[in-house]
Amino acid sequence: MTGAIAQESTVHWDGAAVVAVDQTLLPHACRSVRLGSVDDVVEAIGRLVVRGAPAIGVVGAFGVVLSVRANTVSGHTGGAAVRADAERLARARPTAVTLGWAVGRALARLDDGPEAVLQAALEIMHEVEQSNRGAATRAAGLIRRICKRPQLRVLTHCNTGRFATVAWGTALGAIRVLADEARVEEVLVGETRPLLQGARLTTWELAQLGIPHRLCIDAAGPASIAAGMVDCVLVGADRVAANGDVANKIGTYALAIAAERHGVPFVVVAPESTIDSTIADGSAIQIEERDPEEILAFGDARVAPADTAVFNPAFDVTPAELITAIATDRRLIACEQHRRSPSDAAWVEA
Ligand code: MRU
Repeated sequence: MTGAIAQESTVHWDGAAVVAVDQTLLPHACRSVRLGSVDDVVEAIGRLVVRGAPAIGVVGAFGVVLSVRANTVSGHTGGAAVRADAERLARARPTAVTLGWAVGRALARLDDGPEAVLQAALEIMHEVEQSNRGAATRAAGLIRRICKRPQLRVLTHCNTGRFATVAWGTALGAIRVLADEARVEEVLVGETRPLLQGARLTTWELAQLGIPHRLCIDAAGPASIAAGMVDCVLVGADRVAANGDVANKIGTYALAIAAERHGVPFVVVAPESTIDSTIADGSAIQIEERDPEEILAFGDARVAPADTAVFNPAFDVTPAELITAIATDRRLIACEQHRRSPSDAAWVEA
């Protein structure tokens, strides 16, 4: 079942299924898809029908609700079957910590009954919305303090807006806050090969919001920083290690290197739940490798011989020392290297 999108929120629960914008159809169509089973949810996450770390967490939690309902007969829930489904949901994509976190949190209410599991998923959805707004607002405050140019030229990568986060957005949410204050001259959007989340989704959101933007190929991102066209880089995160290393969409690392080289602030905007304190540093983050077909063909057109060997990582890891700050809903985390300069002291909130 599909339906037109009429509201800010890109995911909701309709009483029997989770309804989400089908992100594979944009920009040609903005329609929602109804996911009524665990299989539907696993398939939607794997195929990037729903994508973006916070959004997959929310639909994953509703996946647990669907499993509990499917495995409850005469008031008795088959716990083993639900736990197996939860395992499958959490593994649907390996890099974003939010998916396993949200699935685990919904599963933790299993013994309290189906209604409690549903309440947990609804709470997660609400909290995700709130935490994204909180992180975005904090990041915008930081950018106001450290970027003195009245009209900012911001570079972003992938899609971190309402499609990725259910509502509002993280890095794109910060851009929205700054644009509401008339502080944004231009957003430069990396197209985000191979699945074009920047080209297909971020430009669509920015156009809807009336925020000036230009699209560039990913390789032009570092070049635009070198050319002095960028006042700050704002990106999201899929998983942050305890030392501040950040896994995010492939291409982020190259932007961070260029930003460091040219003295441009590089700020990560992510809810606190993105921080995985069980992982010491980025080397332990599992990077998802995706289907070779995603880069052997462009739409229907084959762009390389079909038997070409492929390396197709979905994410990369940016070391903490290249990151100016990570803005979460609770705090600003500034890298030690950046803290050393006295003029940077104001970047860290008390
Ligand atoms: O493969 P995707 O499109 O799910 O990758 C998404 C990203 O890398 C985002 O930057 C990240 O999830 C943060 S979304 C607020």
